[in-house]
Amino acid sequence: MRTLLVTGAAGFIGSALCRFLRAFDHARVIGIDKMSYASSRESLDCLSDDKNFQLVEVDICDSGKMDEIIKAAQPDGIMHLAAETHVDRSIDSPYDFIQNNIVGTFSLLEATRKYLASTSKEKREGFRFLHVSTDEVYGSLGETGSFTEDTQYSPNSPYAASKAGADHLARAWYKTFGVPVVISNCSNNYGPFQFPEKLIPLSVMKALNGEKIPIYGQGINVRDWLFVDDHAEALFLVLLRGRLGEKYNIGGASERRNIDLINDMCAVLDRLLPESPHCPHSKLITFVSDRPGHDERYSMDFSKLKNELGWEPKTNISTGLEKTVQWYINNRSWCEKIKYSGERLGQIK
Ligand SMILES: NC(=O)c1ccc[n+]([C@@H]2O[C@H](COP(=O)([O-])OP(=O)(O)OC[C@H]3O[C@@H](n4cnc5c(N)ncnc54)[C@H](O)[C@@H]3O)[C@@H](O)[C@H]2O)c1
Repeated sequence: MRTLLVTGAAGFIGSALCRFLRAFDHARVIGIDKMSYASSRESLDCLSDDKNFQLVEVDICDSGKMDEIIKAAQPDGIMHLAAETHVDRSIDSPYDFIQNNIVGTFSLLEATRKYLASTSKEKREGFRFLHVSTDEVYGSLGETGSFTEDTQYSPNSPYAASKAGADHLARAWYKTFGVPVVISNCSNNYGPFQFPEKLIPLSVMKALNGEKIPIYGQGINVRDWLFVDDHAEALFLVLLRGRLGEKYNIGGASERRNIDLINDMCAVLDRLLPESPHCPHSKLITFVSDRPGHDERYSMDFSKLKNELGWEPKTNISTGLEKTVQWYINNRSWCEKIKYSGERLGQIK
């Protein structure tokens, strides 16, 4: 069986990816995570008795430890998801984003290069490094058009700029050093175990508590929503069959204005919890000052992935939103244990 290293394994998407890889016995998985505020051990609880899964607590910037782990594991691939990921936090503390996203990716690429130089020819020839990135590197769209893999990079937030920098490093390590890299850029993910600072889980938790649901600006910013399990499947496909040195966009084919999405979410809550004293939940929606540099619209053209590798999202936004809201209702205690009170982040005073 192949061995894969997944960085950011205890994060939202990384944990979904580990659960997916193990559910289908696709690989022996070694999860790497420094266990930051955004990590959740519980998201990997279902793998605690799985002898083909291991979670190692380490910072990818610790090159000595990463060299040891990679040498011992002799992986057939690395799926790199570890990053600081919340745009608002990147406004408050940009240093963390430069360090973890740019320096972290650099360290991991160097560790990979060292490993490939020391391992067998057979391992080297089959090896792949998947660098996981975001649509935010492309900047912002107006009312029409979509991002393709050829869209020029125009990152607007410190988060997006740090991811763009990391993408360029990954590409350069392919071109210059021949590290077998493939890059994926995905749209906004949603689903179970997402840290409740992001739009959907934050809004669900606020609504369940009868608190105001903050919507930035007028709520007209458009995002393309991708269900996390669909994303996990796409990532594995791109790792296995994506062309080396290429980029692949991954989208959910579900564009929504934030205000429409949150109104839909409130309607789901009204339906699932008809006895709640907070019905109709939409009355909790409150408009607050906009995020500085807030991108207007993202839209992903993922026809390259569809045409070359035959992938399409399976979950539409209605089904995915219902599943997600139901998960947060059933797992309220998971959110309540988290040390984040839902306070506003990312304002420039
Ligand atoms: N969530 C989204 O909507 C979305 C959209 C596009 C791209 N992405 C990308 O997908 C990846 C995963 O995102 P997510 O939503 O799961 O993020 P997340 O914040 O939920 O999880 C990230 C994980 O990475 C870990 N990590 C951070 N720095 C690390 C380091 N130096 N060493 C080891 N571990 C470290 C954190 O501890 C955390 O567990 C990121 O690279 C992100 O940029 C996410």
